[in-house]
Parts: sequence; C-alpha cells; structure tokens
Amino acid sequence: MAYLVASVAGVVFFAMSVVLLGVLPTRALNADMRAMGPAKLPTLTASEQRGRIVYAREGCAYCHTQQVRYVHADMARFGAPTLAWETQFDFPQMWGTRRIGPDLAREGGTRPDDWQFAHLYAPRTVVPLSVMPSYASLFDGAANQPTNDGRDLVAYLSTLGRARELAAPEGEARAREACHCPDDEMAQMAFEMKELNAHPARARRTGPVPALPSAGDRAAGLQLYANYCAGCHGATGAGDGPAAAGLRPRPSNLSAHRYATDRIAETLWNGVAGTSMPAWRDQPLDRIAALVAAVQSLGQNASVDEASRSGDDLGARVYAANCVQCHGERGAGDGFSAASLAIAPTNFLKQQPFQSVALRALTSGIDGTSMAPWTSRLSEADITAVVHYVRSLYTGDAKEGRR
Ligand code: HEC
Ligand code: HEC
Ligand code: HEC
Repeated sequence: MAYLVASVAGVVFFAMSVVLLGVLPTRALNADMRAMGPAKLPTLTASEQRGRIVYAREGCAYCHTQQVRYVHADMARFGAPTLAWETQFDFPQMWGTRRIGPDLAREGGTRPDDWQFAHLYAPRTVVPLSVMPSYASLFDGAANQPTNDGRDLVAYLSTLGRARELAAPEGEARAREACHCPDDEMAQMAFEMKELNAHPARARRTGPVPALPSAGDRAAGLQLYANYCAGCHGATGAGDGPAAAGLRPRPSNLSAHRYATDRIAETLWNGVAGTSMPAWRDQPLDRIAALVAAVQSLGQNASVDEASRSGDDLGARVYAANCVQCHGERGAGDGFSAASLAIAPTNFLKQQPFQSVALRALTSGIDGTSMAPWTSRLSEADITAVVHYVRSLYTGDAKEGRR
C-alpha cells in the first residue's frame, strides 16, 4: 500500500510540476508574445539564415549575448531591453550566457559592413585592445575578400535588432498597452527609451552634435586615439594603420589636413556614411572633445605645408568649370550632384588638405569614391592653380565663409 501511495504521489507530483513549471508559463509567454508583438515579423533572407548558422557554428555565442537585460547599465550601453517576441522564431536561441564581448542584440546598423569585415578578419587591427579571435577562415586572404560564409555572417549581424526597430512606434504603443503594467517598474523599463534600436553608436544617422566642452584634453585624446583610431588611421595619423589595407575608401590621412573643430566633431558623432568610419556617439562628450584636440594636433607638425596662394583667377575658373557640381559653388561640398553620391564630396570650408594630398587627389583620384583623376582633362598648370584655389577656401572655425 505504501509503495502504491508513494508511486501515485510521485506521478501526481511530476505531472503537477510539468504543468506549473512548463505548460502554464509557456502559455502565459505565448499569450504575452501574441499580445505585445507586431502582427507580422520580418523573416530572414536565405543569406541571413545561413549567416545565423555560421554564427552558431563559429561559437560567437560563447562570448556574445543577444539579450539586453532589464538593468540600467545594459540599457545605457545597448538600448531597450529585449522583449520576448523579438526572439520568438529564433530557434535554437542565440541568447548566450557569457559576455566576454559586448551584447549584439542591437548590432544591426551600428557598424558599417566594411568595419565588420575588417574586424572579423583581424579584430586587433581595428580595435587594438580586443581579445576577440580572428576569423580569417571566413575570408580569402584579405579583409575585403570575404567568402560566402563571411558575407552571410555580416548579413546576419545586420538583422540583429531589426524586428524591434521596424515594430516602432505603433508596435511599441501596442506592446505598452497590452502589457497592462503601469505599476511594474521592471516592465516599464522596456519602453523607457525613445529610440528602440538605440545602440548609442548607431551609425548612418545624422543629427546635430551637442555642444562640446570647449577645450579638449589633448594628452587624454592621444591615448584614446591610440586605443580606438590608430588601427585604421595609423599611429601618426597617416592613414596607414594595420586595418587600412582592406578598406575602400582608405582611412583619411589625418596628419595632412587641417580640420575645423565642428568638422571633426560631426564626423565622430555621426560616422562617415558609405565608409568603414563608425560613429563614436557612445563616448562621453569630454572624450569626443579630447579626440578632436588630438586629431587637430596630428596635422600640426608638418613644416612642408606651404601657405595657400589666393586671388588666383585661373584656379577659380577651373574650379567653376569642373568641380562645382560635386564640391559646391562655395566649396561646401553641397553641389547639385552631391546628394546622389555614396560618399560625400569634401567640404573645403571645413577641411584643408595639405598641398601634396590635394595634388594627389587630382592626379590619382581617390580610390573607392567618385573623385576621379583629372590628368586627362586638365593641364598641369590648371591642376596646380585649382589646388591652390581649393586650399584657399578654408575658413577654419570661423562661422561664415570668406566669399
Ligand atoms: C573569445 C571571445 C569572443 C568570441 C568567440 C567572439 N567575440 Fe566578438 N568580441 C569579443 C570582444 C572582447 C569584443 C570587444 C572588442 C572588439 O570590439 O573587438 C568583441 C566585439 C565584437 C563585435 C563589435 C560589437 C560592437 O558593436 O562594438 C562584433 C560585431 C562581434 N564581436 C562579432 C562576433 C562574431 C560574429 C563572432 C563569431 C564569428 C564573435 N564576435 C566571436 C569577443 C569574442
Ligand atoms: C575601421 C576603420 C576606422 C576607424 C577605427 C576610425 N576611422 Fe576615421 N575614418 C575611416 C574612414 C574609412 C574614413 C573616411 C575617409 C573618406 O571619407 O575618404 C574616416 C574619416 C575620418 C575623419 C574625416 C576626415 C576626412 O578627411 O574626411 C576623421 C576626422 C576621422 N576619421 C577621425 C577618426 C578618429 C578620431 C577615430 C577614433 C576615435 C577614427 N577616425 C576611427 C576609418 C576609420
Ligand atoms: C563627381 C563628383 C566630384 C567632382 C566632379 C570632383 N570631386 Fe573632388 N571629391 C569628390 C569626392 C566624393 C571626394 C572624396 C571625399 C572623401 O574621400 O571623403 C573628393 C575629394 C577631393 C579632394 C581631396 C580632399 C581631401 O581632403 O583629401 C580634393 C583636393 C578634390 N576633391 C578636389 C577636386 C577638384 C579641384 C575638382 C575639380 C577639378 C573635383 N574635386 C571634382 C567628388 C568630386
């Protein structure tokens, strides 16, 4: 009799725990996902689906989570906490349990693809202090020659956070309503952020740069430069860092330009669309100011830079006849065809290339951009004159153009 009671009790207890710990929570979760999720979720393309398999196969999940937790430190760094519906069809889930690298739940759109390729090929060329292993096997010997697996993986990375982003803002309002949780502090955190796919470094966004603290700390800036920028722009700013070889366009030669303060600040805040230059808006403003001071100091020790010759009629005429459609009438980079170019033409009011750099741009063009060589169309005298002319347009930190 005792055996019978014990085994019946055992079976009942087992069934009860399955119901209480398995069936009921699953039903609640499903109801939750139905109520809060958007009516239709975007599916992955074939390439993105294959990329997911590469992600799983290469063990990325051992070091990267894909779940932003309900913790303020997480939210400040990675964006809004992950809702259950976001990973609804993610099977097996890639949530991960360990964060040796950053969370990737909102990685899509955060880094340019070129950045991703250079980083996967050799992480330390891009992020000098990284401990991420190299995935050179996903490439044919160079960062700009990914194999199909490499392409698929980067396509997959670009989907992370996409569903949540597309669901906004109606989806967010719907979720908030369906949650019935005005007093639940935890649940409310999921809706606290205005921008959903809110990785703070999100690139390819433009927007006004907040006012920087006026004087940046140059020494601190140079240290940050060594940690974050030297991999691409090179230790001295010459554009020859270890990651530069695979990048088109090449990282700028920062030591051969004079840049206005707001030009650098804008670049750091928004990144450079169409290139591997990421946005750095996840950095505090005093660090951005320090980086601006550091970049400006890189160009200072070039004694080779001659004073620009101005008042040159020939230069102005050559410019008006050949360059205005892209670089703009006043040189502000806003010519009528500028908007249709993947990479924006240089704004000469805010950025002055040294003589040698400008000359090289005209004689060889700039690889990876629409700036073509002009040697077949302009004489040597024309080129020299127009180089002097574009350099004379620089206004530095002055607000108004000179002309
Ligand atoms: C041994 C741990 C480790 C493994 C395995 C690993 N990573 Fe990383 N990953 C890191 C670390 C640490 C960083 C932060 C430093 C850096 O940016 O390189 C990072 C950074 C990243 C970033 C940049 C995130 C950002 O926006 O700053 C991406 C994207 C990334 N990893 C993707 C991958 C992919 C894809 C794989 C698998 C092919 C992978 N990682 C495997 C440790 C790892
Ligand atoms: C992954 C490589 C990479 C990293 C890392 C990187 N840059 Fe860049 N940077 C580029 C590329 C590529 C361009 C665009 C060149 C062009 O427009 O032709 C660029 C453009 C710039 C420009 C605009 C200059 C111009 O002539 O248009 C500035 C200023 C700049 N970077 C500063 C920095 C600073 C400061 C850091 C570190 C916080 C940094 N970059 C990190 C690749 C990188
Ligand atoms: C089809 C559009 C187009 C035309 C026409 C054009 N440019 Fe450019 N130019 C560009 C682009 C795009 C860049 C590259 C910007 C970058 O790399 O960030 C560039 C870059 C440059 C640079 C290098 C600036 C630097 O700071 O490194 C110089 C100098 C220059 N152009 C001068 C000229 C002159 C002079 C003419 C006329 C003879 C001209 N360009 C015509 C689009 C154009």
